[in-house]
Amino acid sequence: MYGRDVAEIHDDLNSSRGKDYRQEAEYLTEVIRRRRPGARTLLDVGCGAGGHLVHFTELFDEVEGLELSRDMLDKAATKLPGRPLHQGDMRDFDLGRRFDAVVCLFGSIGHTMDEDELRGTLECFARHLADGGVVVVEPWWFLEKFIDGYVGGDVVESGGRTIARISHTVRSGDVSTMNVHFLVADAETGVRHFAETYRHKLFGRDRYESAFAAAGFDAEYVEDVQGGRGIFVGVMGKERS
Ligand SMILES: C[S@@+](CC[C@H](N)C(=O)[O-])C[C@H]1O[C@@H](n2cnc3c(N)ncnc32)[C@H](O)[C@@H]1O
Repeated sequence: MYGRDVAEIHDDLNSSRGKDYRQEAEYLTEVIRRRRPGARTLLDVGCGAGGHLVHFTELFDEVEGLELSRDMLDKAATKLPGRPLHQGDMRDFDLGRRFDAVVCLFGSIGHTMDEDELRGTLECFARHLADGGVVVVEPWWFLEKFIDGYVGGDVVESGGRTIARISHTVRSGDVSTMNVHFLVADAETGVRHFAETYRHKLFGRDRYESAFAAAGFDAEYVEDVQGGRGIFVGVMGKERS
């Protein structure tokens, strides 16, 4: 999952498909500073190839990233030389410091596979937040919104390459399985094919809400932003249990 071939094209492909990392980073910064005006430090969990982080570095004094995939992290490092990027698992990590904001974007949280893991992950985010710090989580599709059998397809040109991405996502119980096939062509190497499979838990909105509450957050859900998945925004209470 998220191996070298995907890491190489991930952010270019998504930008060419219409994802605006700059606009998202600016919007999320506004969301954070509305709740914590002086926010100056940020951790991006599941930071992938650094698509948001490259912009967050211009918006915050200190930014760090945490990511499970070595290949994604290596790609991020090429764009963010000298920045603290950690290989780790969002479900259980300890960076030994707190931040003004922790973000987890583009549905990465859906890789937690049950409610205990989801709550444990949010508790871990809470341990990395200053009192009054802000968490922003872009969930995976809610169970009630998921379209079974969804087929996605794009062909884009980026960085001298032509990339085709075709996906098929099916639901089995409350888990979605997305099979994604990629064709990448350039003048020197010709056409290459590779494929990846992603499994996500389809939590309902209520499951996210109860997990945020259990982790000690006073959280609200903002609909229809970030490509339709919305965001949960939580503030870490000053009195922790
Ligand atoms: C859809 S990508 C999003 C990457 C990035 N946030 C973005 O917006 O481009 C999901 C990312 O979550 C990472 N991921 C999956 N499970 C993880 C875990 N348990 N801990 C940390 N990262 C994880 C994947 O390796 C992948 O880079």
